[in-house]
Amino acid sequence: MSSPARQTSVQHAPVAVVGAGAMGSGIAQVAAQAGHPVHIVDAVDGAAAAARDRLAATLQRLADRGKTTQDHAASATANLHVVDRPADLPACTLVIEAVREDLADKRALFAELAAHQPADTLLATNTSSLDVSAIAAGLDHPGRVLGLHFFNPPPLMRLVEVVHGEATDEDSLARATELVRTWGKTPVRCTSTPGFIVNRVARPFYGEAQRMVEAGVADPATIDLALREHGGFRMGPMELTDLIGQDVNLAVGTSVWEQTGRDPRYEPTGYQRRLVAEGRLGRKSGRGVFRYDASGQPLDAAPDAQLAQALATGPVVTNPVARTVAMLVNEALDLVDRGEATAEDVDTAMRLGTNYPKGPVAWGREVGLDVVADQLRELDAAFRGGRYRLSPALAAAVRA
Ligand SMILES: NC(=O)c1ccc[n+]([C@@H]2O[C@H](COP(=O)([O-])OP(=O)(O)OC[C@H]3O[C@@H](n4cnc5c(N)ncnc54)[C@H](O)[C@@H]3O)[C@@H](O)[C@H]2O)c1
Repeated sequence: MSSPARQTSVQHAPVAVVGAGAMGSGIAQVAAQAGHPVHIVDAVDGAAAAARDRLAATLQRLADRGKTTQDHAASATANLHVVDRPADLPACTLVIEAVREDLADKRALFAELAAHQPADTLLATNTSSLDVSAIAAGLDHPGRVLGLHFFNPPPLMRLVEVVHGEATDEDSLARATELVRTWGKTPVRCTSTPGFIVNRVARPFYGEAQRMVEAGVADPATIDLALREHGGFRMGPMELTDLIGQDVNLAVGTSVWEQTGRDPRYEPTGYQRRLVAEGRLGRKSGRGVFRYDASGQPLDAAPDAQLAQALATGPVVTNPVARTVAMLVNEALDLVDRGEATAEDVDTAMRLGTNYPKGPVAWGREVGLDVVADQLRELDAAFRGGRYRLSPALAAAVRA
């Protein structure tokens, strides 16, 4: 097959999306709006056509509301094509896989794609938790296999983690990075480390709050308020995990914990495990940390503002903001030190992927790494077991 990338300008080169669910549909919309013919495939009969129809309606709504022009909506809609099977796809410059999170399924799909696409077609996975190297293992031309981790919903979230597996070559990374940039996205690069950047560095945001509630430091709404009012976070971890789904958040945490050899830094809390075991999954089940009415408003979130302020200005062991920020800083410095991502990319990823008010590396410098190190030492003395150990990078920074 001849190379599609060499035939057409990059902007108009064909792109394929396999898996027409929440993520695949959103990615298809982004690529179609950027001017690419987009070929959508799904294993379930009719699912790709249904996704195309939904996207056509979405694009029409955007035009009706003046968010885009009628012409742009019409041309983006005309860019969407349904294809029955991966083997029937035309030669593409990029194929993005967004099928369910199962290594065997993804490997089988990539083998099929590799057999039918030209050798220089970029083959990307949107996996959240699987190892890109494991998906690429055994394929011909594994250098063109990489992760393109979009965030939900893809049309609204600017961040894309461009993930390199062991075999991914620099040319593929550069091409994919440039392509998503032309789609209006902000790419950051990282290795295929468990959780990549965002799902790794964010773990303590949830874990510290849950541990404090479990220890009786304060009720969940007060911990949330402290982090919002005194930490500048847009949402507290309790309300946020209720929105994400406690089961979804626990699955991500458990995956990172397992993949890091059960490092105590990532150990899921008994508090969250109990919520999930009791079916308290969050807003979607009407009850998680909080109870919700039919419109999704919490019914029993009554924070104590005085207590939130006292905690946020008090000793680190019971201070939701200091504890959380110290752990985020430790985690971010460790990721950078291990060569998984640059400090700049970690900060960009956390601001755009999680809406944190500051990137954790910059935040650490602002607080003072010596202060952060002292806070962690105090926590480590209070709670033994290694969760609060200083990362080698932080230890070295404060020795220097
Ligand atoms: N939902 C999120 O917030 C999110 C965010 C980032 C990444 N991801 C990742 O994106 C991927 C898809 O997630 P989702 O939430 O869109 O899932 P989803 O369940 O909404 O959609 C998956 C789609 O893939 C189809 N499918 C399953 N196996 C297939 C196969 N072998 N070939 C073709 N189609 C197949 C299904 O019919 C379904 O339409 C997963 O790897 C997930 O980890 C999800």
